[in-house]
Amino acid sequence: MILIEKQIADIFKRTVDALYGEQELRAIDITMATNEKFGDFQTNFAMVNAKVLKSNPRAIAENVVNNLVENNLIEKVEIAGPGFINIFLKEEFLGEVVKTISKEKYDFSFLDTEGDVIIDYSSPNIAKRMHIGHLRSTIIGDSIKRIYNYLGYNTVSDNHIGDWGTQFGKLIIGYRKWLNEDAYKENAIEELERVYVEFAKAADEDPSLEDLAREELKKLQDGDEENNRLWKEFIQVSLDEYNKLYGRMDVKFDTYYGESHYHDMMPGVVEELKDKGIAVEDQGAQVVFFDEETKLHPCIVQKKDGAFLYSTSDIATIKFRKENYNINKLVYVTDERQQDHFRQFFKITDMLGWDVKKDHVWFGIMRFAEGIFSTRKGNVIRLEQLLDEGKKRALAVVEEKNPGLSAEEKENIAEVVGVGAIKYADLSQNRQSAVIFEWDKILSFEGNTAPYLQYSYARIQSILRKGEENGKVVREDTAVNLGEKAEKALALFLTQLPNVAMKASETYKPNLLTDYLFELAKKFNTFYNSCPILNQEDEVLYSRLLLAERTAKVLKEGLDLLGIKTVDRM
Ligand code: ARG
Repeated sequence: MILIEKQIADIFKRTVDALYGEQELRAIDITMATNEKFGDFQTNFAMVNAKVLKSNPRAIAENVVNNLVENNLIEKVEIAGPGFINIFLKEEFLGEVVKTISKEKYDFSFLDTEGDVIIDYSSPNIAKRMHIGHLRSTIIGDSIKRIYNYLGYNTVSDNHIGDWGTQFGKLIIGYRKWLNEDAYKENAIEELERVYVEFAKAADEDPSLEDLAREELKKLQDGDEENNRLWKEFIQVSLDEYNKLYGRMDVKFDTYYGESHYHDMMPGVVEELKDKGIAVEDQGAQVVFFDEETKLHPCIVQKKDGAFLYSTSDIATIKFRKENYNINKLVYVTDERQQDHFRQFFKITDMLGWDVKKDHVWFGIMRFAEGIFSTRKGNVIRLEQLLDEGKKRALAVVEEKNPGLSAEEKENIAEVVGVGAIKYADLSQNRQSAVIFEWDKILSFEGNTAPYLQYSYARIQSILRKGEENGKVVREDTAVNLGEKAEKALALFLTQLPNVAMKASETYKPNLLTDYLFELAKKFNTFYNSCPILNQEDEVLYSRLLLAERTAKVLKEGLDLLGIKTVDRM
């Protein structure tokens, strides 16, 4: 199905062509009217194209409005102010559009979807349990992936796990010195966390341990068999733990190339940088200096002792992706603290002449009102704890509202609602604002929250069930009447999901979707309060039933773009 805005724009384009001959017009932008007084859609194209058409906006608008090509979409057009055009659609046309929703796929062929959009997110550092700080990267990245898929892009989600850092030397020592076998069998990653802390404590007393750790790391990197075995085990233990949480959050990755995957490529990368005169020696290290106007600090790509750095591995990652994919663009999701890192290595790959589109999608870190989370201070909330708490609170609500459901169904609803609430609370924030963590806010079930939307969805399912009991099921051949204000407003708004998804993809802002869905649910409630469904004459009944059913479909589809599930009753 061609987007409604495109269909309308086409009428204006044909009109302009007929009146002015074919011109290189600036796009004819059609947007939903901000107020029903101004019609259903509006366009400012007469103003934007006044120069191209060598006339004044008002005159262009008048000319176009008086000579609109024949069509069966538009009921009437009006000119407002200096040359805005307000567009009123034919009711039958809008009704037909609503009927195609979720039956026909939207045509996004005008987007440049060639190649792979590679999205790098979650990316925890191995051997620690994920905490709430990992929530944002994981679910923002996952939502971006879903949105791009919806728009017809091929995506590759890569979990760029931190599996090659200095922590491994320390862990290997900690493991040999302090491991409690039973505890390790019981909960491996927790025990690894403990020996890591033991190491830190011991190294405070005896700094020579740090040297030992570096030796073990070097042995590992040089291929020592026993160290490699341990290293692989640590990774496996960690991934087992992460995958449990990814499963609960319905997050899937296509690849798990960690930093270690690029180890062998790094010497070559530094050679290339040296050959091209991009990296130069400075006090024994290899360093890239940037032009003054970039305001970037110099970036070390190889240390004096020969070690490579985080930036080096990220440059190698781009090389690898260039060689193995047909890149549309690269998208990285991390917190705000890594902005300089991304600016630096993006710039370096530009200097290398690697022509790759890439975006760093950063988000504000989550803090407690008292300050930042820190493992050291012990004020970390583990992701699993958070999900469990969400589920617990949701279960209490279900028990109260729906005591009659089976235990199994209650469990399922609680998981979907609890996890959904947490994801939504996060995704509904502008990603660049800092988030203050508050249990009550993140687990709220009222207002602009997932549970409210899930509830609206379930409510429509219940209407559909009741209809079915009375022999009234949605009829695809019904006419859709939009005579009531609330019917019309709902119908118009239902056409907007693809548009909002496009905006969310351009800006990497899932909160545009949450805003849209919340507004949609409110519009549905207004409609349902003023337009009863099941006790009406057939003609009205079927029309409204279809509107309700399509609303549910759009709610579900929209929530799915956020990685949030629905249930049929709650
Ligand atoms: N492991 C890193 C961290 O925890 C995030 C990696 C992000 N991705 C990347 N390609 N640098 O800070």
